[in-house]
Amino acid sequence: MAVSVDALAEQVRPRFPIFERLTYVNSCSQGALSDDVRDAYARYLSDWDEHGAPWEYWVAQLDAARVTVADLLNADNDEIAITTSVSAGVDALASAFSFDGDRDKIVVSDFEFPTIGQIAHAQERRGARVEHVPAEPDGTIPLERFEAAIDERTALVAVTHVCFRNGAKLDIEPIAALAHERGALLLLDAYQSVGSLPVDVRALDCDFLAAGALKYLLGSAGLGFLYCRRDLVERLSPTATGWFADQDIFEMDIHDYSPASTARRFEAGTPPVPAIYAAIAGIGLMREIGIEETQKHVRGLTELLIEGLDELDGQVVTPRAWQERGALTCVASTDAEALVATLTERGIVSSSRDGNLRISPHCYNAREDIEAVLEALREHRALLRTGKG
Ligand SMILES: Cc1ncc(COP(=O)(O)O)c(C=O)c1O
Repeated sequence: MAVSVDALAEQVRPRFPIFERLTYVNSCSQGALSDDVRDAYARYLSDWDEHGAPWEYWVAQLDAARVTVADLLNADNDEIAITTSVSAGVDALASAFSFDGDRDKIVVSDFEFPTIGQIAHAQERRGARVEHVPAEPDGTIPLERFEAAIDERTALVAVTHVCFRNGAKLDIEPIAALAHERGALLLLDAYQSVGSLPVDVRALDCDFLAAGALKYLLGSAGLGFLYCRRDLVERLSPTATGWFADQDIFEMDIHDYSPASTARRFEAGTPPVPAIYAAIAGIGLMREIGIEETQKHVRGLTELLIEGLDELDGQVVTPRAWQERGALTCVASTDAEALVATLTERGIVSSSRDGNLRISPHCYNAREDIEAVLEALREHRALLRTGKG
């Protein structure tokens, strides 16, 4: 154990200067800045300076980002839209459904990020009905809950891979099988998993997947992506659209709507060019570091964290079984904001949601980071909820 939890961090840490100053355990919010991503931003500026108006080059970068994301997800290039956020991709997707026929229902798990629930409810104005799938008190959502909600009127099932609030991971394949058996399509929000564990759209059998580059993919803010299964692309015509979704971007025709025959039809306006440079660099670095190695490494760190929290009698709200959790561990707090502020004073960068402290180690974290967190929690134990209840 001692070797495996430290080896990867030792190797990659020099690429992330923040560790010279701070203990960074907040990759569920955003990844730490690497030298590669910093250089990518510098390259964006120098290319702009050098070429003046490098539109063709920028469009080539957009396509390079598409290839990078497709390769990451085991998708084809024409199944990927590069967007400015998860919200933008899911908005375009939702706009392509008409909820006026036999299938007017959207099933939404209670693990969803607000944007997914809000977009689903926005579709009520277009005739959709939304049903929520509740979580159990132990922070999991059993398959039976989905069985009860997905029916022959369901158009779309929205699930999240790893929940941003409690770190629980859903087993996607059985939910996808259930949705498909009942004629519904499955949208997976993989923002809290992609980069921290292998995500393969074919293996998961999801119809759509939305995520972004900011967190465990080490990119920056401003870049999202949407996967749409090949055979569904041309059945869906988004009404939330723009010129970069057109079949011929530079035709400049204002007289019709001819969406691209590929998933590019879910794009909209000027691409997020700086974030594209950063995402290509971040995803490239993450793949060089190794996503599977990172998953194993983080599992070791999480075990140390949970052991330490148990010693403090803290309430870990994330499920214990590794199959049921991702890289994020959540701990119940009596005052989560005060706890985050206290950790900040000690140079530890964390975050909170829903009354829980969130600790989300990644490839660059080492045993000493977990020890620093536990030490701080030991000193401020009054800010932890303790015991079982
Ligand atoms: C699971 C999940 N989905 C979606 C989002 C938001 O994505 P965006 O701001 O790109 O729309 C987040 C952001 O934290 C998230 O954690």
